[in-house]
Amino acid sequence: MTSPDTASSQGPSRDDRRTSPGRTDWTSWPAYDAAELGFSDYWYPVQWSSQVTKRPLPITLRGERLVLLRDGGRVYALNDRCLHRGVPLSLGRQEFPGTLSCPYHGWTYRLTDGELCAVITDGPDSPICGKVAVRSYPVEERLGLVWVFSGTGDPHPLDTQLPGELTAGTPFAIGGRIEDRRGNWRLAAENGFDEGHAKYLHRTSLWRLFKTMPTWNRTHIEQVGRWIYRVQDEVHWDATFPGVGTWSNRRWWKQRPPEQSFTLGNTGAAKKQDPVIAGQGWPGFASLSLPGVLRIAYPQFIHYEFYVPMDRARHRYVGFMVQFKTGLQRTWFFTRYLGAIRWLFHGNFSDQDAWMVEETDCPPERLYRPDSSLLAWRRLCEQGNPFSASAEPAGDGAPADGPTVDGPTADGPTADGAER
Ligand code: FES
Ligand SMILES: [Fe+2]
Repeated sequence: MTSPDTASSQGPSRDDRRTSPGRTDWTSWPAYDAAELGFSDYWYPVQWSSQVTKRPLPITLRGERLVLLRDGGRVYALNDRCLHRGVPLSLGRQEFPGTLSCPYHGWTYRLTDGELCAVITDGPDSPICGKVAVRSYPVEERLGLVWVFSGTGDPHPLDTQLPGELTAGTPFAIGGRIEDRRGNWRLAAENGFDEGHAKYLHRTSLWRLFKTMPTWNRTHIEQVGRWIYRVQDEVHWDATFPGVGTWSNRRWWKQRPPEQSFTLGNTGAAKKQDPVIAGQGWPGFASLSLPGVLRIAYPQFIHYEFYVPMDRARHRYVGFMVQFKTGLQRTWFFTRYLGAIRWLFHGNFSDQDAWMVEETDCPPERLYRPDSSLLAWRRLCEQGNPFSASAEPAGDGAPADGPTVDGPTADGPTADGAER
C-alpha cells in the first residue's frame, strides 16, 4: 500500500488522475480562448431581410447593440446608443429620409455614416451637428438574410465568405429559422461539429423516427481550403461493450441500415443524390468553417447553421436548409418545409442541440476519442482569419496542393485516447 507521502512524491495517484476534472482552461488555443465574443472582421447573418423594415430593429452582435433600419430599399446598421445621453436609437423613429432620430431630444443621425446631421430641439444652426457620429456598420443582403460586417478592418466581399455552392449561380430554394439561444457561441459551434452526439442524443428526435442511426463511428478530419470535414472511416450500427452489454439504434419500425458505408447524411446510403450536392466532391458530409458556419450535406439538401455571437452567454442560431430545385419542385419544397421540416428538423431535432448547449458546462473538460473533431476546430481557429489582408488566400474548395489531412502535432493538446 502506498502512503500519502509516497504518493505525492511520485506524482498524482491513479485515482487522482481518474477523477481529475481534466483541462481546466482553453489557453492551449489562445485565439479560440479569446473569442468569447466571436471573431472579428467577418460578416454575420443577423436577421431575415423581410424582418427589417422602416421600423428600427435592435440586435446584439458580438457584445455590441446595433439598430437596423431599411430606408429607400437598403438596410443600414448603426450603433444603438445615442451619443447625447445613451438612449437606444432603436426606440426612435425616422423623421427625415436617410436618417434616424433619437426619441429623447431628437438628435438625428445620417444612416450612411452615422454622423449627427440635425438636432431637432436645438434649431437649424445647432453647433454640434457634423461634429459627432455614431458608429455605422457595413451591411449586405444575401440569401434572404441581412449580413453585418463586425470588425475594424476593411470588409472583404461577402460572397467570398459564403459557402461556394450558394454563390455559383445554381438556383435553390431556402427555408430556415432564426432563434436566440442561451450558451456561448463556441459551445454551439462545437456541438454542431461534434462527432459523437448526434447518434445518441438525436435518436429520440421525430426527424429520425424512421431512420436508424449508427451506434458509433471512427472518423478523421480533413481540411480543404477554409473548411474542415469529418470523414467516416468506419460506421458501426451495433456494439457489444465488454462486461456491460450490447447496444444499437436499430428498432423494428426504423429503416434497415445499409450494408455498405455512407457518405452523405447521418443515417445511411441514399438511393438518389442531388447531382449538385454529389458534384461538390466533399470528403465528408459534415464541415465547419470560420467564423462558426456548419454545413451538413444530406442526399437531397444541405443544412447550414451559423452561430452568431450575441454576448458571452447568448448566440443567435441562424439555421437554414437549401434544395437545388426550381419550378414546381421548388413549390413542393416550400410545402414540405413549412408543413413538416421546419417543425421536425429546425424545431424538435435542433431544440435537442439547444438544450445540450444550454447545459454544457466547460472547461474543465475531459475529451474523448471522437472529440478529435473539436480539437481540429480549435486548431482551425488558431489559423486566423482567412479573409484578412495578411492571410494566404484560403479557397472554398480544394487548394492547389490538395487537402491537408488532420494529423499529429508535435505538442498540441489531444483528446484522451483520440486517434492522432
Ligand atoms: S439622449 Fe438621444 S437625443 Fe438626448
Ligand atoms: Fe445535434
